[in-house]
Amino acid sequence: MLYITKKMVFSASHRLYNPLLSDEENFILFDKCSNPSGHGHNYTLEVTVNGEVQEKTGYVIDMKKLKYIIKKEIIDKVDHKNLNSDVDFLIGVNPTVENLVLSFWKMLENKISNGRLYKMRLYETDSSFVDYYGNEKI
Ligand code: NI
Repeated sequence: MLYITKKMVFSASHRLYNPLLSDEENFILFDKCSNPSGHGHNYTLEVTVNGEVQEKTGYVIDMKKLKYIIKKEIIDKVDHKNLNSDVDFLIGVNPTVENLVLSFWKMLENKISNGRLYKMRLYETDSSFVDYYGNEKI
């Protein structure tokens, strides 16, 4: 079994905000991350696919194909967007890095053409990231 990882970057803005709470409660929970005008991040998304090497190609999955799938299903939809308002699949989602990786997983899990989606790591900053392996592996 081999593990193939593609790393991609995107930039987006967001506001951490729970609509069920008052502005005051949101500020207590999220502090400056709940600034009403939002703020931006340069995110790095790492997608790992696992599988066996195919004899015909020598690949688990063609990296160009994996890059295209991630770009089409996720990056093109979130890059330079407001994650609270501009992205169909994130409407109603508080865009923490945890919730983003859960939503991204759903967008990608049935789209991998060869191998299987094994892991996603999403960096919100150089020093803060979340790993997700899908529900079935918890
Ligand atoms: Ni933030």
